[in-house]
Amino acid sequence: MSANLLELRNVSKVFRIGGLVFGTRLVAVDDVSLSLPAAEPSILSIVGESGSGKTTLARIILELEHPTSGDVLIDGHPLYASGGDGLRGRDYYRAVQPIFQNPFEAFSARKKVDRYLFDAAIRLGIAANRKEAREIVAEVLESVGLDLSRLEGKYANQFSGGELQRISVARSLIPRPKLIVADEPVSMIDASLRMNIVNLFLELKERYRVSFVYITHDLSTAYYVSDFIAIMYRGSVVEYGPSDQILTDSAHPYTELLLDSVPTVDRKWERDLKLPDIELKEYQAQACKFAKRCKYVQAICESSAPPMVQVSGERQALCYKPVEFEPQATGKQAEVLQS
Ligand SMILES: Nc1ncnc2c1ncn2[C@@H]1O[C@H](COP(=O)(O)OP(=O)(O)OP(=O)(O)O)[C@@H](O)[C@H]1O
Ligand SMILES: [Mg+2]
Repeated sequence: MSANLLELRNVSKVFRIGGLVFGTRLVAVDDVSLSLPAAEPSILSIVGESGSGKTTLARIILELEHPTSGDVLIDGHPLYASGGDGLRGRDYYRAVQPIFQNPFEAFSARKKVDRYLFDAAIRLGIAANRKEAREIVAEVLESVGLDLSRLEGKYANQFSGGELQRISVARSLIPRPKLIVADEPVSMIDASLRMNIVNLFLELKERYRVSFVYITHDLSTAYYVSDFIAIMYRGSVVEYGPSDQILTDSAHPYTELLLDSVPTVDRKWERDLKLPDIELKEYQAQACKFAKRCKYVQAICESSAPPMVQVSGERQALCYKPVEFEPQATGKQAEVLQS
């Protein structure tokens, strides 16, 4: 067994916008390395404003988008290396399951919702027949607080968004995955029900020992639910670490700015956060992408890209500032600063 359930190794995704000749490159995901340990189930939240690359990263983990470079390892199996022994088809979906943002899009209006669940159990080889499938489906529904008898014969439009998202969660549990990747799973459901789904993730982590990658705009639910948080900005992970440390003692000026805009834990970090629109040149900058709006900016920040610095323990920040203030910065990083 690998030490890491999930490992992202220098993952980048470059999109070409416009034609090949006059087009431009957009680095939607920029050299992201992250991991989730295999020993204990945990929840990693990926937090960032619109356009920061969260969905692209999720799609790469879910084998829906090929990275331009780098690799993703699930339980030590590289998904993209040529000649690698990546997980394919059923093996992959037994290990990793998605939950998407819009539960109404996850279920067709013409197919009964319970059929989705039975079909998943049989297609993934979890149940040998319909009777076994029924038992499995009843159990996963019970674990999300729903009763199979209430679902039977109904279509998606007969449920609320919150109920449907619970059914999506139940479906994702059928193969007993080790990892669930949930991209903004609560953003389209009623605000009053969001915490229920988030709490469910915590319960399921314990009950099924399943880990989550939870993608969100919402810093407060991320803080509440996660063991680790990665903050994304313009394609880069700018800060990563245990969630309590990130939020009580942030190392990156961008995280600091985000926290200033979320004065109370129950206030959602809305998209109207006071930042200018995404500028293409920030995605392409050779230096720190945050330099233009950073209150600690130094000359070096505008000329060369900052290193990922080990701030303390497991905490990392893509920034020169901790290098300057933390004595444990490596010699090489200190040299960069002084040069
Ligand atoms: N297929 C594509 N072709 C070109 N550009 C793309 C493509 N998919 C995403 N992008 C661009 O990549 C950047 C990151 O997009 P992504 O959807 O990953 O962001 P996000 O953090 O999920 O945003 P949101 O919070 O709005 O969901 C954006 O600038 C987006 O326009
Ligand atoms: Mg997205």
